Amino acid sequence: MILALETSCDDTCAAVVSPDGVIRSNVVASQGLLHERYGGVVPEIASRRHLEVVDAVTSDALEWADVSLDDVDRVAVTRGPGLIGALLVGVSSAKALAAARGLALVPVDHLHGHVVASTLEPDPIEAPYLSLVASGGHTFLARVDEPSTYRILGQTLDDAAGEAFDKGARLLGLGYPGGPAIDRLAREGDPVAFAFPRSQPGDGLDLSFSGLKTSLLYRLRDLGEDEGARRRADLAASYQRAIVDALVARVEQALAREGLDRLAIGGGVAANSELRQALADRSERSGVGLWAPALALCTDNAAMVAAAARHLPALPYPDYLQLDATARLGPEDTRAAA
Ligand code: KG4
Ligand code: ZN
Repeated sequence: MILALETSCDDTCAAVVSPDGVIRSNVVASQGLLHERYGGVVPEIASRRHLEVVDAVTSDALEWADVSLDDVDRVAVTRGPGLIGALLVGVSSAKALAAARGLALVPVDHLHGHVVASTLEPDPIEAPYLSLVASGGHTFLARVDEPSTYRILGQTLDDAAGEAFDKGARLLGLGYPGGPAIDRLAREGDPVAFAFPRSQPGDGLDLSFSGLKTSLLYRLRDLGEDEGARRRADLAASYQRAIVDALVARVEQALAREGLDRLAIGGGVAANSELRQALADRSERSGVGLWAPALALCTDNAAMVAAAARHLPALPYPDYLQLDATARLGPEDTRAAA
């Protein structure tokens, strides 16, 4: 059994996954409400909260999986990227849990987790495939030829897609996190009421969302307060359509360029109903297989960390005692650490 911990941002997560990829438990203690009043994640508050709940979340994961620490062979943990103080809580806990029993430990790149979340049972995707990860902190397309690693094909040059949702929601006077709020409001609006830019920077597969947010700001200014409030649903629907269009366009270009016929999506924005529908419609037309996992596997969770750990070498005790969290981390760093 793999026991995995994930504390890179504002969710305290623990999961138990069997070596063949069956999720035995996937526990998330969300801090969303704690940060809501600040309109975003406050790093220091996140770290403190992780420290308070990480033991209980870990116990819950073991209990719900109906296993004990005696059944655990390896401990996996997100090493980065993320908030350094938050990451340190998970890394320290994982080291302590593993060291106390002389177990092996697998350091995992958080983004690798998002990329391979769909390789878990009951319907595992098989490589090669294209992965779209769109979250609050990251947005990129990656090619996966084997689940032990991934190659980034294109990424956002500025804001992440989730950040575009969150900033747009703030401009529209909706709550945090903004993605679900825009998703809901957009259902009542007209997605072609306003023209927002669909930026396709460069001739590769990169993305850009900062111009979109500025465009919404100017549009709201032009409309004035009353009219802006009255047209809020139309603005939300048009804004969301622009983000979805940009993501779908890049996905289609990437599939064609790379000659791939399987697509997995992940990250919080993969929960977006319009994005899921748009990709499902295209998948039906083109025959490209779509893996759009349940919400719990799209947003931050520890099962995806275990998913990556299944394919990575473990550090034997006591080699990992020097292991540190890193705020910035990419695929090469993970391999080097292992
Ligand atoms: O992956 P995630 O839980 O955390 C990280 O950022 O790593 O993603 C959170 C992001 C937030 O920006 C949130 O607004 C966005 O995912 N999000 C959504 C939806 N649900 C969450 N964006 C659009 N539509 C949604 N339904
Ligand atoms: Zn994430």
